[in-house]
Amino acid sequence: MRSVSIVGQGLTRFGERWDKSLRELVAEAGLAAVKDSGIDGHKIEAVYGGTMASGRLIGQEHIGALIADQMGLNPLPAHRMEAACASGSIALRNAMLAIASGEHDIVAVGGVEKMTEVDAGEVSTALGGAGDQETELFHGATFPALYALMARRHMKEYGTTEEQMATVSVKNHKNAMDNPYAQFHKEFTLDQVMNSGYVASPLKLLDCSPITDGAAAVILAATDVAKKYSEQPIEIIGSGQASGTIALTGRKNLTGIEATTIASKIAFEKAKLTQKDVDFAEVHDCFTIAEIMAIEDLGFFKKGEGGKATEQGKTAMDGEIPINTSGGLKGKGHPVGATGVAQAIEAVQQLQNKAGKRQIKDANIGLTHNVGGSGATVVVNLYRRAQ
Ligand code: COA
Repeated sequence: MRSVSIVGQGLTRFGERWDKSLRELVAEAGLAAVKDSGIDGHKIEAVYGGTMASGRLIGQEHIGALIADQMGLNPLPAHRMEAACASGSIALRNAMLAIASGEHDIVAVGGVEKMTEVDAGEVSTALGGAGDQETELFHGATFPALYALMARRHMKEYGTTEEQMATVSVKNHKNAMDNPYAQFHKEFTLDQVMNSGYVASPLKLLDCSPITDGAAAVILAATDVAKKYSEQPIEIIGSGQASGTIALTGRKNLTGIEATTIASKIAFEKAKLTQKDVDFAEVHDCFTIAEIMAIEDLGFFKKGEGGKATEQGKTAMDGEIPINTSGGLKGKGHPVGATGVAQAIEAVQQLQNKAGKRQIKDANIGLTHNVGGSGATVVVNLYRRAQ
């Protein structure tokens, strides 16, 4: 298999984007990525686009073709990839595999979601389709409720506290202050998070990622080709994907996501690295408990110790392993189809030393972790500067 690298990246500002339609967001991120790569757009050979619910949210399907059209890339092959909130990551992964296999040399990857055109109830129902419609959504269990169940079990088994979960929110909102593309530029105190009102107990408003519009795009190339264009291509040195049960009822336990453990094991084995080699990680903090479970399931902390580690500052910008330097889904925002691609962009910016005030000193290896649904799809990628 050939080595694959990211040679260009483009992001829109995340948030309530009344000023731009879905196709305009796609064009903004896509054209920025092509410009950043320095590659003539006509050299791109295929497009992979991730979106979760564009049909339900704005009535637009056939997003692969729309992205190719908006970017002026017809008639090349265009694909839509969907795996709920991991749609962006499976678009990235399948594009990577298309290059690794030798089929293509240069491929564009996009992720997009326009979520604020309908009311929050309708968004919640659309997102709920990422779980099990029959056994969960039909009975009113939308995503805050599903993650609340996991949080309660984690609290019972490991003594994790609501304050520890709130610390994740305080940290990620703080990190987002230095990200110009983030939805929120507002710091919150622990008290403010604790008093923000229950959405699904024990999760409060400020434990939840928000509803967001936004797009992200990267250009991938075979690493030998990438070196002709970019001064510093970022190589994807390990990638793992795994599936788990669609419903929580099928899980052996609720205190973690098994697909995360499996996907990360594959990624680390491929990269021939261990957790100790990783300098920073972007993990899927759709709810604060999700970040605590992720840092345990990825092997950065022992099971049950994620809450304590967060409270002790081990995941802060100056901690042992900075988590969600971009602000994460919590502070940066979570346009579901775009999130996986945006996580890869944070890895690129950190490794290219272009993360501005968020820059981690001497960052050599980065990890991204993207979850679809309550853990039915997980993708973990490892990155470093191409050698
Ligand atoms: N974090 C921080 N602030 C938030 C927020 C969040 N998650 N959600 C809303 N806000 C803010 C809004 O900006 C607004 O502030 P303002 O009054 O200063 O303008 C205020 O809170 C009220 O916003 P509103 O739009 O009325 O909130 P809502 O009640 O419609 O939605 C949630 C709140 C938590 C229900 C919604 O954000 C949600 O569903 N989040 C989860 C999304 C999800 O499940 N994603 C998939 C995960 S797998």
